[in-house]
Amino acid sequence: MVPWMVMALIMATTFFSCPDPGSCHSCLEVFPSIEYQCMDQNFSKVPMDIPASTQKLDLSFNPLRSLAPRSFSRITELRILDLSRCDIQKIEDDTYEGLHNLSTLILTGNPIQSLGIRAFYGLPKLQKLVVVETNLMSLEDFPIGHIITLQELHLGHNSISSLQLPSYFASFSSMKHLDLHLNQIKNISDGDLEPVKLNPNLTLDLSENPIQYIHPGAFKGIHLSGLKLRSSFHNSTIMEACIKGMTGLKVGKLVLGNYKNDIQMTSFESSILDGLCEVDIGEFRMVQPSQFPSDGNGVFKCLVNVSVLFLVNTDIDQLTNLPIFPKLFSLSLTDCNFDIMPDLPSISLPSLKELKVTHHKDLTTLSDLALPNLQILDLSKNSLNVLSCCSDKTFNTPNLKYLNLSYNAHISLSKNFMGLENLESLDLQHTILKDHDKYPAFYSLINLRYLDISYTNTHVKFKNIFTGMSNLKHLKMAGSSFQDNILHDIFKNLTKLVSLNISYCQLERVSQETMSPLHQLQVLDLSHNKLQTFDPFICMPLLNLQVLNCSSNSITALNGENLQELSRTLISIDLSDNPFDCVCDHQIFFQWVKEHTHLLNRSKPMTCQTPSHMKDISVQLFDDSTCHMKKTVIAVSLLGIIVILLVLALVYKFYFHLMLLAGCKNIGGGESIYDAFVIYSSQDEDWVRKELVKNLEEGVPSFQLCLHYRDFIPGVAIAANIIQEGFHKSRKVIVVISEHFIQSRWCKFEYEIAQTWQFLSSQAGIIFIILQKVEKSLLRQQMELYRLLNRNTYLEWEDTNLGRHVFWRRLRKALLDGRTKNPKGAAEEEFSQPVSPT
Ligand SMILES: *[C@@H]1O[C@H](CO)[C@@H](O)[C@H](O)[C@H]1NC(C)=O
Ligand SMILES: *[C@@H]1O[C@H](CO)[C@@H](O)[C@H](O)[C@H]1NC(C)=O
Ligand SMILES: *[C@@H]1O[C@H](CO)[C@@H](O)[C@H](O)[C@H]1NC(C)=O
Ligand SMILES: *[C@@H]1O[C@H](CO)[C@@H](O)[C@H](O)[C@H]1NC(C)=O
Ligand SMILES: *[C@@H]1O[C@H](CO)[C@@H](O)[C@H](O)[C@H]1NC(C)=O
Ligand SMILES: *[C@@H]1O[C@H](CO)[C@@H](O)[C@H](O)[C@H]1NC(C)=O
Ligand SMILES: *[C@@H]1O[C@H](CO)[C@@H](O)[C@H](O)[C@H]1NC(C)=O
Ligand SMILES: *[C@@H]1O[C@H](CO)[C@@H](O)[C@H](O)[C@H]1NC(C)=O
Ligand SMILES: *[C@@H]1O[C@H](CO)[C@@H](O)[C@H](O)[C@H]1NC(C)=O
Ligand SMILES: *[C@@H]1O[C@H](CO)[C@@H](O)[C@H](O)[C@H]1NC(C)=O
Ligand SMILES: *[C@@H]1O[C@H](CO)[C@@H](O)[C@H](O)[C@H]1NC(C)=O
Repeated sequence: MVPWMVMALIMATTFFSCPDPGSCHSCLEVFPSIEYQCMDQNFSKVPMDIPASTQKLDLSFNPLRSLAPRSFSRITELRILDLSRCDIQKIEDDTYEGLHNLSTLILTGNPIQSLGIRAFYGLPKLQKLVVVETNLMSLEDFPIGHIITLQELHLGHNSISSLQLPSYFASFSSMKHLDLHLNQIKNISDGDLEPVKLNPNLTLDLSENPIQYIHPGAFKGIHLSGLKLRSSFHNSTIMEACIKGMTGLKVGKLVLGNYKNDIQMTSFESSILDGLCEVDIGEFRMVQPSQFPSDGNGVFKCLVNVSVLFLVNTDIDQLTNLPIFPKLFSLSLTDCNFDIMPDLPSISLPSLKELKVTHHKDLTTLSDLALPNLQILDLSKNSLNVLSCCSDKTFNTPNLKYLNLSYNAHISLSKNFMGLENLESLDLQHTILKDHDKYPAFYSLINLRYLDISYTNTHVKFKNIFTGMSNLKHLKMAGSSFQDNILHDIFKNLTKLVSLNISYCQLERVSQETMSPLHQLQVLDLSHNKLQTFDPFICMPLLNLQVLNCSSNSITALNGENLQELSRTLISIDLSDNPFDCVCDHQIFFQWVKEHTHLLNRSKPMTCQTPSHMKDISVQLFDDSTCHMKKTVIAVSLLGIIVILLVLALVYKFYFHLMLLAGCKNIGGGESIYDAFVIYSSQDEDWVRKELVKNLEEGVPSFQLCLHYRDFIPGVAIAANIIQEGFHKSRKVIVVISEHFIQSRWCKFEYEIAQTWQFLSSQAGIIFIILQKVEKSLLRQQMELYRLLNRNTYLEWEDTNLGRHVFWRRLRKALLDGRTKNPKGAAEEEFSQPVSPT
């Protein structure tokens, strides 16, 4: 078919030509004119087709080898440049000249042999420089001293053997992160860190250096934001000595421990951290130490003044004899091999507000925490099996605001959260819940702002499941199911809801009233359901909706008529992965899609599923001009049909008139056989036979009347008879008017034809006889007749001697009018006496 070919042609041109030169590159266009990914393309130079407006360019894994001056000066807007593993051995002077806006330069994995003294010139906004794994031996002659805007310097995996920072580091006042992991630093001496002494915002990473010795006092007076020393000490003797050498350091966050695959220290004496008594620490993290001593007292004695304590992958059976941590605010115990909850006496932890005990695969039971000040409790990713949850008694924590029980085994929510009214955030995702969908389980949580019950085996049957939570702002219930797969009005009192996630719920329908309380809703995720239609009408109450995600459903089109109900505040709508039916019925919707690409640019392209010739083609290519064409064709043919029908109707209606027209000539020249054709109602036939026929045909002069019961030719259609016999062959028409006549449609029909005939033959040929007095109102119903009667004179039948006399005289006179020749030779006697019937 022709439209198919047109469609194919359109598509072919779209695919095989490049309407916008910016869109055809050897590189992947992540965002047009902004971001290009040219990874591993065997480029030996910077590709020329990268637009000058590009801000982010990934050239990693190309054999660039050496970079000439001003290699990138054309791409002046560049902000991020990735040159990882490009086999760059030489960076000449002014290579990056012109990159006034470059903030990130990544040179990871290049075997740099020579660096021009001006190699990094012309980078006035450089903030992050990554020179990991680049054969760097020393910082002394690394030519970056002029880049005072530098915030992050990544020098890991090189061969730097001394921490002695060159004096130019003093000018890096914005420096936040200095990463020297995996180098060859063995000794830390006095004065090494002198240039960064005045920068309390710096985090220094010395992990995986073979540190042997820290000169006591090397850190004296140094104030760091963070210090990482993971896998930095070969054995516990060295570690203990080095920590002692850190005397006088003030550090916001100290991280000690190992990496999983590194050699583990064999023994871990409780005295090992003794040196920390002379270090001012805010947050202490211990990651994966081996054989952490169970004698808590000894290990922690120098850590009592920390405010945050993290123990990750620390093999402790029990935390016993804990010293008093007067300032400890947050305690996190991650994957520490507990199989029962650690006993944390509130006496030891008077300030504790945050407790996180997570990732313990053997931890199955809860126990009383008795930490009255606790506000944040994270027990996620354990194997908890809680039979009766939750109330203030469950944890003995009446001030709890945040509770995370996600990723556990089973929790039975049978306690209504009594006494936990302060709770603001509750995360139960991926934990099998019981009993919560039969009664208002969250009834007490009037302050709750955040609730996550995604993937908790929730089956919503009970309409009041969310009753009580009138302050809820965020509700996530992905992976739930609903009775009959219909979403009913379960959100009745959630008038403050801002985001709602009901993805992966197998929903087939959303009922009309569901959304009506959600005036504040901004984000609605309905993706991965089984919705077959989505009427934007349900969004009408959502006056603040900004993000709507309906991707991965079974929607064939949105109802075009209600698209304006989608709030004006919408900034993103995702309709991808739906089986769109690209037919003209949905033309309004596809037109809307074309006009609202800015709402759809965050999502994957929308493609057609049906009809088959459009399968997998973008709905943007849906050509609605074919619909206009079809419409025109339909309109034209409809019009044609109407015209034909009209003509047929007219022909039918005026069939007789036309026949008369055709017979005009005959009328003009034809001989009249009858003097008059009598039209009357069959009810008046008696009068016609006994009075009219008798008086006129048998009287002198006699008139020849045409009477249908007598003169019509048998076997010929009545209509044809009326015309051929009645009108064509009669000079005059006598219309006998009575109530019967007026009521009879047949008479009316004959009479209408008579009118035409009168008109055609232009003879004043109609004689009206009023047989009975007819009700005026009845007469008025026959407007035309009424009009004619008023215009023409008529004879009234009066059944008295005098009346009859006058009547017959006048009738004869009227019949004689226009009679040229008396066929029977009696024309002279104009006013002969009528035969009295008496
Ligand atoms: C990469 O490009 C060079 C020439 O620039 C060519 O000799 C080589 O075969 C190419 N390698 C691949 C894998 O295409
Ligand atoms: C750099 O960024 C600023 C805004 O951050 C912009 O005005 C300017 O045009 C950009 N380009 C150059 C070459 O400076
Ligand atoms: C490191 O310290 C040890 C002993 O304290 C010393 O023998 C060695 O020379 C020092 N090495 C360097 C590179 O300073
Ligand atoms: C450290 O950072 C804070 C905020 O991040 C800033 O206000 C302060 O000025 C910085 N201090 C120095 C010495 O740069
Ligand atoms: C730790 O290592 C140093 C140097 O490698 C060695 O002298 C010392 O004996 C070791 N200590 C222990 C306890 O293994
Ligand atoms: C903890 O701080 C107190 C005073 O704030 C001080 O007396 C005590 O020595 C500190 N303890 C440690 C181990 O640093
Ligand atoms: C609860 O814990 C899980 C797993 O640790 C985490 O992914 C989630 O973000 C937490 N919930 C909240 C509300 O912080
Ligand atoms: C819903 O809220 C209204 C007022 O905010 C309150 O009167 C009504 O009782 C609440 N209904 C339920 C079922 O909680
Ligand atoms: C809704 O939940 C699903 C499943 O947990 C998640 O993938 C999706 O990102 C969430 N949507 C929003 C808008 O957060
Ligand atoms: C819509 O949801 C799908 C699946 O959860 C996700 O991949 C997509 O990024 C979301 N779209 C937007 C615009 O957030
Ligand atoms: C999508 O379009 C909006 C409005 O035109 C624009 O502000 C936004 O930056 C675009 N987003 C992307 C990812 O192109």
